[in-house]
Amino acid sequence: MKRLEGKVAWVTGAGSGIGEAAAIALAEEGASVVLTGRTRSKLDTVAKRIGASAVVEAGDLTKPDQVQAIVDRIKAKFGRLDIAVANAGVNLAPRSWAQLTPAGVDELIQGNLNSVFYCAMAVLPIMRAQQDGQVIITASMAGRFISLLSGPGYTASKHGAVALAHTINMEECVNGIRCSAVLPGEVATPILDKRPVPVTKEELARMAQSEDLGDLIRYIACLPKRVVINEVMMCPTWNRGYVAGLGRKS
Ligand SMILES: NC(=O)c1ccc[n+]([C@@H]2O[C@H](COP(=O)([O-])OP(=O)(O)OC[C@H]3O[C@@H](n4cnc5c(N)ncnc54)[C@H](OP(=O)(O)O)[C@@H]3O)[C@@H](O)[C@H]2O)c1
Repeated sequence: MKRLEGKVAWVTGAGSGIGEAAAIALAEEGASVVLTGRTRSKLDTVAKRIGASAVVEAGDLTKPDQVQAIVDRIKAKFGRLDIAVANAGVNLAPRSWAQLTPAGVDELIQGNLNSVFYCAMAVLPIMRAQQDGQVIITASMAGRFISLLSGPGYTASKHGAVALAHTINMEECVNGIRCSAVLPGEVATPILDKRPVPVTKEELARMAQSEDLGDLIRYIACLPKRVVINEVMMCPTWNRGYVAGLGRKS
């Protein structure tokens, strides 16, 4: 029997990158997977790759009503929700203090922090009733360490997401709920198209790949209920931040 047979997983940002890889990995383990993102066509393509166990629920996670409506439909369809992967996130090319606008700050905080709050608030009542459930949050290495690479808005929003994750464990451990903050370093995904300095093909090839993070999320999702990985960081071996510190470019 597959390890997640009978389980229901909701993956946000499932139309590309890490979310796509996580949805595929969880489906491979036997879970029914609900795919959310704003662009239905991307979700449909991923659902086609997965097959009958995938359900598409398009929506904008910065809108709490839409988040709640999606989770209500998951509950109505499956009667349960075991794994919520709050993975969707955004960054902006004009990210430095010199370039930030109030609208840009709102986009980052809403897209990377408020959206995670909305997802967690929507799923926790179901998990409390089950006395079981996992929330897996894709934060970032920028949620633990401060650098200018990711920009102040992204860095602040991801620090918030990491803090949020720990507080879920602090309050909800008595309800059998576990929360894991996943902190990737550089992963070759479409979000890097927003980098102010474009990333070369060679650099992308040396980074972590979406599948690496998908495998990590699968591992977390398959852990026994008695344990939680509170926080985990996965980076490329060739960590460009470290390499720059060595005074080397390549
Ligand atoms: N790649 C990296 O180097 C890296 C490093 C650290 C952390 N991360 C984090 O990893 C997570 C996944 O990103 P990724 O790297 O896989 O990039 P990605 O391919 O751009 O994935 C982000 C996904 O989130 C969805 N999304 C964004 N805003 C949304 C919203 N308001 N509502 C619903 N869906 C939304 C996007 O789809 P739509 O545009 O169709 O909505 C997209 O599919 C993000 O939280 C990101 O911050 C990435």
